[in-house]
Amino acid sequence: MKTDQLKPIRPSSSAPAHLGAAQWLLPFGGMVGVMCGCSPGNLTAQSPAATSLRPIASIQELMQTQIDLAADGIWDAVESDVTRRGVEERQPRTAEEWAAVRKANLTLVEATNLLQLPGRLVGSKPFAAEAQGALDSGQITERIAADRATFDGFAQALREAGLQALAAVDAKDPVALVRAGGALDEVCEGCHLRFWYPNQIIPALPGGGK
Ligand code: HEC
Repeated sequence: MKTDQLKPIRPSSSAPAHLGAAQWLLPFGGMVGVMCGCSPGNLTAQSPAATSLRPIASIQELMQTQIDLAADGIWDAVESDVTRRGVEERQPRTAEEWAAVRKANLTLVEATNLLQLPGRLVGSKPFAAEAQGALDSGQITERIAADRATFDGFAQALREAGLQALAAVDAKDPVALVRAGGALDEVCEGCHLRFWYPNQIIPALPGGGK
């Protein structure tokens, strides 16, 4: 599968509410009638963003149940284990092992669409700041609302890094997968620094640290 097939025609968040499904589906041309089975008049009344899409999980739950797990599935796929017998290079080898990484990868790239869906709560209930320098759910909500474009930009950057990882998986290229994993990590950290713990205090290493 070509990786660019995974990109949505246009992100839901960029489809203005006044644009109907007909315009949204334009790239599919003749498929509109087949997909809807209704008249073009009805089509314009339905905006996917306004009617059919409804965020359910909070951003926190998306992080916990999809994004973090999926990223681990990518990061843990290729590893060097240092044991008494020396260094063991771990990487997917069988078709099943590659399929497992691919599954995690698909979860991750699709979750980047979910992150951009407007109206999603930060937490299913308010939560306090987790550590010094971190923000509470109310502050995170305000920060995202004040700069939605940057938040969505990070989600899109996560998708691009995820697509790089997917290309590496499809090429069965462990070195490229590690590289893409590094890019992925930077995007996670970038968004967290901006919206979650902008004032984080990095503790000094024990013993003065060098
Ligand atoms: C578009 C912005 C954005 C990106 C990209 C992002 N996160 Fe998050 N993440 C957040 C926000 C905002 C929070 C704070 C809310 C919270 O505590 O869950 C968070 C919280 C978390 C949490 C804490 C969840 C909890 O229990 O409170 C984990 C774990 C996490 N992210 C993992 C990741 C990983 C791994 C990646 C990259 C693969 C990633 N995130 C990418 C925005 C992002």
